[in-house]
Amino acid sequence: MSLTIRSYQPEDLPRLKQITVAAFDGVSIDQGMEQRFGVIHGHDWQWRKARHLDVDVTRDPAGVFVAELDGQIVGCITTWQDRDGGIGHIPNIAVEASFRGQGVGRQLIEHAKQHFRSCGLTHAKIETLEQNATGQHLYTSLGFREVARQIHLVAELGR
Ligand SMILES: CC(C)(COP(=O)(O)OP(=O)(O)OC[C@H]1O[C@@H](n2cnc3c(N)ncnc32)[C@H](O)[C@@H]1OP(=O)(O)O)[C@@H](O)C(=O)NCCC(=O)NCCS
Repeated sequence: MSLTIRSYQPEDLPRLKQITVAAFDGVSIDQGMEQRFGVIHGHDWQWRKARHLDVDVTRDPAGVFVAELDGQIVGCITTWQDRDGGIGHIPNIAVEASFRGQGVGRQLIEHAKQHFRSCGLTHAKIETLEQNATGQHLYTSLGFREVARQIHLVAELGR
């Protein structure tokens, strides 16, 4: 199978949302909130996750890349840049479950790192959840080093 990584086009968005929402089942902070508090404000975690893609493609559409295997979209990565600070950020990466373990995720990250380099950045940053063993393995194998752990807390506001 031949893998292509190409620039994002606006017509890709529904498919990228579909892949990303499906992929984040089990590794989503919004899903964790929903498990603890129930559906919040009438919007489930899938709606919230899909909205992250809206934010990403609005913030830096030229920093979103799409992975195609034999012409079929199987994954994506989103990025944005702090050019003054020299850091490229990777807020979202997802590969369709049936195409995982073939190096698509690795190539998407390599592509994002090369994109950052070509823009003059010196460092790349990605975040992953403690339960995401694949993420931790993949990112450290690509040169990312753990610098901090964060705890996410949410409070119900009441009336
Ligand atoms: C993370 C993700 C994008 C990786 O995509 P992928 O195409 O499977 O990635 P690759 O095939 O390039 O690499 C996966 C690596 O993880 C390893 N891996 C797979 N399952 C693993 C597990 N349970 N624990 C540890 N490592 C694991 C694979 O062996 C491979 O490592 P290797 O290349 O050293 O053999 C994909 O798993 C995904 O979409 N996950 C759900 C969404 C997600 O977690 N996004 C990132 C949030 S931070």
